[in-house]
Amino acid sequence: MADKMIKKSEVAARIQVLAQSEKVENSDGKGDMVPRPDISNAVIRRLPRYFRFLRELIRAQIFRISSSELSKLMNVTASQIRQDLNCFGGFGQQGYGYNVNYLYTKICEILGVGEAFQAIIIGAGNLGRAFANNTMFNKRGIDVIASFDINPLLIGTTYNNIPIYDISELEEFCKNNNVDIVVLCVPKVAATDVAEKINSIGIDAIWNFTGKELENVDPNTAIESVYLGDSLMTLCYDLCRKREADAKLAADKLSEKENK
Ligand code: NAI
Repeated sequence: MADKMIKKSEVAARIQVLAQSEKVENSDGKGDMVPRPDISNAVIRRLPRYFRFLRELIRAQIFRISSSELSKLMNVTASQIRQDLNCFGGFGQQGYGYNVNYLYTKICEILGVGEAFQAIIIGAGNLGRAFANNTMFNKRGIDVIASFDINPLLIGTTYNNIPIYDISELEEFCKNNNVDIVVLCVPKVAATDVAEKINSIGIDAIWNFTGKELENVDPNTAIESVYLGDSLMTLCYDLCRKREADAKLAADKLSEKENK
């Protein structure tokens, strides 16, 4: 517990440094933002993008931005930005724009960045090890504290200072450590069994990469399933539409030439 509290303060400090830690006031003077309980999933899913852009602005020492500048930067309409941020109380002020520090701090709060969540990776194969080696968790204030596998060649080794334990030690480990999130990177065939185990231990959140829908999990468990293949297919769709548009343009140009 003491450990967790220390980590929380460390993360809070990290965020404060990033947010320049100067006194940040709500630019519209309306006091603290209170998120409405009925915020749509679509808005929530857009918040990480605001988080990324605001972080970049702070790094570039830009602490105030107009809604039109922000909208150009993010390639969304100013009205979309206003609508999104109004779900959390609104932050902008006519003629002032947005206080970048304040907005960033509030979005961090909403997204739980700085909660000092602790994560474990189950499945220390290619994907699991790629995650262990990535700074993405750290940048979001999430501490990856261990990894678990069934492969005797991996068990007992470390990857980027993250120890790999035998999956049979999972329950005991979770009794002795705060585990908030499981990053699930086992093969699809093992997903259901491992998810049941995670569930019986009572871990509240699973970031699921297995490609398997986890239907057997307690409905109170937060699950975010990621399918990189879906994103790739969306790209292919866009490419097909672009090729179609290019072909049509070329055909139109040709017939225009012929008609001259
Ligand atoms: P991999 O075969 O390199 O790694 C899987 C690891 O899980 C191995 O180290 C294996 O020993 C371990 N494992 C197997 N059963 C286990 C169990 N019951 N408990 C603990 N560990 C167990 O595979 P890779 O490339 O790392 O992919 C992992 C998973 O992620 C696969 O299901 C793959 O299809 C999926 N994947 C998903 C993507 C996505 O966008 N969702 C993208 C890439 C991979």
